[in-house]
Amino acid sequence: MSTADEAQAWRARFERERSARKEAERLLMDKATELYATNQDLERSLATLRAAEAALVQRERLAAIGALVAGIAHEINTPLGIAVTASSSADEELRTLELDFAAGRLTRAGLGQSIAYVRDAVGLAFSNMERAAALVRSFKMVSADEQTEGARTIDLPAFLRDSITSLQSVLKAHRAQAVIAAPDSLSVRAATGPLGQVLSNLVQNACVHGLTTIAPPRVRTVSLVARATETHLELEIGDNGAGIEEHARAHVLEAFYTTKRDSGGTGLGLHIVNTIVTQTFGGTLRFTTETGVGTTWFLTLPWGTEALTRAPARPQTTRPSDE
Ligand SMILES: Nc1ncnc2c1ncn2[C@@H]1O[C@H](COP(=O)(O)OP(=O)(O)O)[C@@H](O)[C@H]1O
Ligand SMILES: [Mg+2]
Repeated sequence: MSTADEAQAWRARFERERSARKEAERLLMDKATELYATNQDLERSLATLRAAEAALVQRERLAAIGALVAGIAHEINTPLGIAVTASSSADEELRTLELDFAAGRLTRAGLGQSIAYVRDAVGLAFSNMERAAALVRSFKMVSADEQTEGARTIDLPAFLRDSITSLQSVLKAHRAQAVIAAPDSLSVRAATGPLGQVLSNLVQNACVHGLTTIAPPRVRTVSLVARATETHLELEIGDNGAGIEEHARAHVLEAFYTTKRDSGGTGLGLHIVNTIVTQTFGGTLRFTTETGVGTTWFLTLPWGTEALTRAPARPQTTRPSDE
């Protein structure tokens, strides 16, 4: 092959390679553009999905609120209705009494009967209005916004002891004792309002539902355990009472579920507890229960939320040890 031929061949090869490279570059560019478009599509889909999810969550929340409001209206209607009826029948009885009195027809026996009647009616009206008021108070707690009360720095064991002290009237009324097991001191920054509400509801439940049927020699006991792990604050509130009735176990966290409607139960206590534990504290709530043995609630609350952080320990004043 002559030099000129060689050059020709070389050039041809060069041209082929160059156009192949060009083609490859073009393909690559196409692919990149395609990928970019796909990526954009994906991002758009993701945004749509996120929006859909947010809308669903919002709808779910509104549905829950709607159901709650309907529930509130329904629940409050009954005691208010009874209170109105009872008051108006007391009013009628008083009017009769007045007429009889004015006409000089009033007998001693008649007066006694009327008093008893009016007292019953007023008592019924009063207890039902109290029930309505208790429902309204509970609902205030149900709305999550009410619970975002500021957090403050406390010594947790001291706070637990104080809470139990403030619940002494309930405990005493049920002849129950409280036993606390907590570290000597544990400095935390906590939303004390909601935390106190949780303790109060669980201790009241322990007394009202768990312990009432427990007779001596068994000592009615509410136990409170606090434990700090690396990641969580663990709280246990237990009673050695009757245990949650078997048919009730699956429903106790539902709003308005109560086995004590006749004696003033609203069925909101545990619903509120669950809302506070999961929403305010971002934690979890579980329980164990056994008929005739008792019920224990386990709260696992993560450190490092707006509602709960582990405060740096206050500088310890050094004290000579007693050992
Ligand atoms: N410590 C407990 N021991 C036994 N039963 C309990 C206990 N705590 C709750 N329960 C059951 O769970 C139900 C729901 O409790 P709650 O939501 O606080 O409503 P309420 O106290 O108004 O009945 C109670 O009616 C009761 O049957
Ligand atoms: Mg309750």
